Order: sequence, then C-alpha cells, then structure tokens
Amino acid sequence: MSAATSAIDAYWMPFTANRDFLAEPRIITGAAGHYYTAADGARLYDTFSGLWTSGLGHCHPKVVEAVQHQVATLDYCMGFQVSNDKAFALAERVVDMAPDGFSNCFFTNSGSESVDTALKIALAYHRARGEGHRTRLVGREKGYHGVNFGGMSVGGIVPNRKIFSACMLPGVDHLRHTMDLEHTAFSRGLPEWGAHLADDLARLAVLHDGSNIAAVIVEPVVGSAGVIPPPVGYLEKLRNICDQHGILLIFDEVITAFGRVGAAFAAERFGVTPDIITTAKGLTNGVIPMGAVLVQEHVHEALMQGPPHVIELFHGYTYSGHPVAAAAGLAVQDVYVEEGTFEQSRALEQTFEDVLHAFADHPKVIDVRNFGLMGAIELAPREGAPGARGLEVHKRCFWDEHVVVRNGMDVLQFSPFLNSDADEMQQSFEAVRRVIDAVE
Ligand SMILES: Cc1ncc(COP(=O)(O)O)c(C=O)c1O
Repeated sequence: MSAATSAIDAYWMPFTANRDFLAEPRIITGAAGHYYTAADGARLYDTFSGLWTSGLGHCHPKVVEAVQHQVATLDYCMGFQVSNDKAFALAERVVDMAPDGFSNCFFTNSGSESVDTALKIALAYHRARGEGHRTRLVGREKGYHGVNFGGMSVGGIVPNRKIFSACMLPGVDHLRHTMDLEHTAFSRGLPEWGAHLADDLARLAVLHDGSNIAAVIVEPVVGSAGVIPPPVGYLEKLRNICDQHGILLIFDEVITAFGRVGAAFAAERFGVTPDIITTAKGLTNGVIPMGAVLVQEHVHEALMQGPPHVIELFHGYTYSGHPVAAAAGLAVQDVYVEEGTFEQSRALEQTFEDVLHAFADHPKVIDVRNFGLMGAIELAPREGAPGARGLEVHKRCFWDEHVVVRNGMDVLQFSPFLNSDADEMQQSFEAVRRVIDAVE
C-alpha cells in the first residue's frame, strides 16, 4: 500500500510548505477572466495573474480556440531535423517585436530552460569566435533565474542555493543587489540611488581580467526576490561596462517581457539593448508551458559556421517549439496586438502605483516598490518568525477575502492583469488592507 493516503497526499508541490498546505489545501478547479474558482465553489480574484504568467486573464476565448484547433490538427512532431509551421511563425513574430538587432529565437519549455540555454549560447558564442577562455559568468545577489543548475548558480536567492552549495557551476561571480531601504524605501518607480553598484562588474573585470568573462545576466526589474526596480542609470552602466570588455549582456525577461512593464520588452522600455533576452510566461499567457531565448544577429551569426551538415549547437529539448504551445503563443501575440494590451498595461501603471503606495503609512509595512505592473508591499517580519506574517496574509486573503495574493516570505507581490479593471484592482487592495490590519 502506498504511503500516500489520498490523491492530494501524493502530490509533492513545488516551492510550497507541503505539510502546512495539506492542513488547509487551496485548490483551484476553474478560471475565467480575472477570477479563479476554488474546489469549494468560491470565486477568487487573482492579483498575481497566475504566476506573472497570465496578463490577458484566464481562458481567453481566442487562445482557447487556437489551442483546441491545434491539438486536433498537429498535436506533436519531432523538433530535431524536422519542425512544424507554428514554431516558425511564432519565432518570426517574437523576433519582429524584439528591439532592433535581434534576429533569432530558440524555443524552450520554461524560464529555467531559457536561462540555461542562454548561458550555454553565451559560452558557445565566445568559443566559436576563438575566445574559449571566456568562461566566467556573472549574476547578481537576489537574482532569480530559475532552478536548473546554471540558473541556480548565477541566481542569488539564498534558500534556493543553500542545499546545493557544493554543486554550483564553477567560475561564477555575483554583483551586489541594489536594494538598500535606507536609500530606496518607498521609491515610486525607479530609485534614484544605486547606479554606482553596476561598477561591481567593472571591478570583476579588473579582478579576473574582462577577457575571461563570458556574460552577465540580470533581471531588468527583479521579480521573485520581491520586485526590485533598477536604479536610474544602472542598466545603461552595465551595458557600457559589457561593451568595454566584450562581455555579453543577458536580460532575463521571463517576467518583464510581453507587457508587464508596458512594452514588449523591458529592454525597449529602458532603451538598453542586451545581446540575449530570455522569456517564458507571457509568451503563451501561461496557457501551455513555453520559453524563448532571443539572440542578436551577431550572436547567431557567430554560431552559424562550419560545414552546413553539422549541427551548430548541440542543445535542444524534445518539446522545443511544440506546435500546441506555439499555436497558443501565436494566438496570445495576436490578442496583445488586437486588444492593445501593452498600451492598456502602461495606462494602468499610475493607478497601480497609487493603490500600492497607499500602504506606505501602514504601521506593519516597511517598504512599497513598483515598476510597470510589478509591485511589492514588504511587511515587517514577526519577531523570531520571518515569513510567518506574509504566509498568514496570503492564507487569510484566500479564505476570508477570496483574493489570491502571493507572498515571498514577508513580501507581498502583485502582478495585476495587463487589462485589469481599475475598480476591481482597487477593491482587491482594500481586501488586502483589511487582512494586513487583522493579522498579528
Ligand atoms: C526572471 C526569471 N527567470 C527564470 C524563471 C524560471 O522560470 P520557470 O519557473 O518557468 O522555470 C523565473 C520564474 O519566475 C523568473 O522570474
């Protein structure tokens, strides 16, 4: 007899306090638009658009139709040496949306895979150009680049790294993160303080000699560590230092691409162009798992060398360019254009900033941060129990207010729908306030 006593006991949930969850399971059975339906029939407002994924809302009819059609037309075909029409069409569409200079797109199934793919492309690029000595990778403290070994190694979220400390990739350094509440607390949008921290890259280029560094990867706006917008001028500085030393700049836009910061890419919004962009989530609105790595032409060209019958990059996934995922992606990209989603997102920014910063004077709040439609309210931790207050807010929002709120420890994170209704947004934050008032 199996140790699992019921269906829910058998499921080992990701990034979840599993035993705590099983005491009070929060199980969703349906969704439509901006609301979930829970197993007990309750209708819940989703303040996190899935997991930063579903900016258009859930079960958009055009996307549902495209997926239903595709799964009945071509459910799968191999992606190595053969491919499908939808993958080509989506690659073209996404490259067209990218900043000038981007020419190609490599498909993955997740953000983690996009990151590890990007790191491998960076190493392969330098080697192909005769600079195989450029092997060092640079990430940043508090960075989240997924959970695979590459992304974990360049990432900077301590609990994700702690257990695997002995197994990190060699030759990885980290820039300091840019959050210092003494200087940045309650900034609206980009903090004025902190651009000098980009000079950490220049220091590493002195320490190791820049000619040994392959790439630096950063989230243009940090997401999972609790929404940390870049200081004014920081990304520009990183770009300049990369240029001085021939280092590739990778923007991890798994969260920020496709409208989350009011443009197709954060690179466009900030006017800073990296060499490689990683994406996932909003590529398909979360409907079917899919990620994409976009590369500038010079990166792609460097790798398209040697005899034409030889595979240029020994890398790929069984589901790279999956036809159903690609069909979902094409429908989603159509809807973004038809409905003016990125413009809608941009127009909501001020309302969002205002409702968020209304928490600034709450006695249990120590910081509020926002950029685009990414926001965080940081609660003061309970004495001796960091994270407990945030988790309780999450649970009480769910059970008492029928609002789904994400917490990362004591940081409440918000990722509103790109087409949110301003009144619904306002009401959901009133619910959050009632819960913050009520919890210990
Ligand atoms: C910036 C960033 N990179 C990578 C990932 C990993 O994506 P996935 O969970 O799809 O592997 C995430 C996930 O939130 C992310 O925010």
